Amino acid sequence: MPDATLTILADEPALGTISPLLHGHFAEHLGRCVNDGLWVGPDSPIPNTDGLRSDVLQALRDLGIPQLRWPGGCYADTYHWRDGIGPRDGRPRSLGESCGLNVVEDNGMGTHEFIALCRAIGAEPYLAGNVGSGSPQEMMDWVHYCNGTLDTTLVRERAANGHPDPMNVRYWGVGNENWGCGGNYDPADYAKEFRRFSTFIKMVDSSVELVACGNNTREWNLRVVETLRSHWGLLDHLSVHQYYGAGHATGFNEEEYYQLLRGADLVEEGIRYTDEILRFFAAGRRRPSIAVDEWGAWHPEAAKGCDYEAPNTLRDAIAAAGVLDVFHRWCGVVSMANLAQIVNVLQCLIQTEGDRMWLTPTYHLFRLYAPHRGAEALRLDITEAPTRDLPAQNRAWPETTFKPGVLPLVSASVSRKDGTTILSLSNRRRTEPLAVRVVLRGIRIDGGTTQTLTGDAPNAVNSAEQPGHVRITEGHLDTGGGEITLTLPPCSVQTAILA
Ligand code: AHR
Repeated sequence: MPDATLTILADEPALGTISPLLHGHFAEHLGRCVNDGLWVGPDSPIPNTDGLRSDVLQALRDLGIPQLRWPGGCYADTYHWRDGIGPRDGRPRSLGESCGLNVVEDNGMGTHEFIALCRAIGAEPYLAGNVGSGSPQEMMDWVHYCNGTLDTTLVRERAANGHPDPMNVRYWGVGNENWGCGGNYDPADYAKEFRRFSTFIKMVDSSVELVACGNNTREWNLRVVETLRSHWGLLDHLSVHQYYGAGHATGFNEEEYYQLLRGADLVEEGIRYTDEILRFFAAGRRRPSIAVDEWGAWHPEAAKGCDYEAPNTLRDAIAAAGVLDVFHRWCGVVSMANLAQIVNVLQCLIQTEGDRMWLTPTYHLFRLYAPHRGAEALRLDITEAPTRDLPAQNRAWPETTFKPGVLPLVSASVSRKDGTTILSLSNRRRTEPLAVRVVLRGIRIDGGTTQTLTGDAPNAVNSAEQPGHVRITEGHLDTGGGEITLTLPPCSVQTAILA
């Protein structure tokens, strides 16, 4: 007897194409994300490729990182790009970010090193510019330095620093969280700054796509977008940041287990109302899209000592599956998304300790979802699925005020590419397996393969000692036709490739 029925509506129009950029990542000079995580410098005893950790590079190449945002985060609004170019031994030792600006940043990884990283892992670079403590001239010059093609002094300088060809950086953030760490702006004031910066940036390179700073509150987004309504052409993307938490990283009770998954599902709310605002003010013009350029679980451990590090569990990966399902459903509206952050910090893909590194459950989750990149997102219908009633939740940080609600215990994405159907299913039940009857409308299949991510407990982690504790197992599906049954272990995510 199945626990749920999922109908794949391949006979209805697709939702749109799942842009690979929805599976993007974020690297900030914060804690050990950049320094020590990605970048160790060419003189490090840790094996490296021109200063970038070779083991981390290989893992990122294996996964495929469609987009990487850098250098912040909050750090972006204090970062001066000229500190990170030219011979490394001549670069300034500036104030780096921890709990405030209270560590030394040697600027070893600057623009050239970041672009080299992106090229090495196949990622589209996304640079976040400095509005808070910077100027339009400074950001214009950065765009000019990276993308310029004329024989100017800045372009000559780029060539002298080893990059004669333009870097072709297409995505640029105009500030970050300017409602908070990026300058404590009022929304209309920020929007005016955005207008000023963007006007000049687009004069330097009209092909760049600019991301304005949004918020996960309706009011900020409304007022920013309203202020930009008469300069609509400047706004390509509006950002939304969404973090969620419930209990501790590994120490959480049953209710907190489910509340974290609910926090993940609520990422949809920010997208929904931001889309409403953008549609309203677009009033028939080109609609800017949404960049969820920071998202993920943020546990209390990640604030301790300001290193922003926390264990990364199977629960975090199951929550991330729910968020990716949201992005796939909204693929016509969300243009890019960046998990925070790529190495060591917050909900990372990779953790390192000295010369050792291991892959987190979240890394494996992104592997399971990789086949959806570039595919057509199909509509689906889930019926008769188990749910869990949840009480209200009020948390100071990440700020969460949930009303009592109902959490679906099955989450899914379905897409179609090159004649195959890709189905990712999450069984959010903590301790019980789940049998799902999958009905295919408009397609028939002969069988397929499955990959399942699970572990021995929701708080299972990988570590230097046990790097393969939470991992993917492979399976086969010998049945076909217009209906199949998939069985998932408790607290697991499965991707079935059906052909
Ligand atoms: O990702 C960590 C921090 O979270 C970023 O610097 C900031 O943008 C957000 O508040």
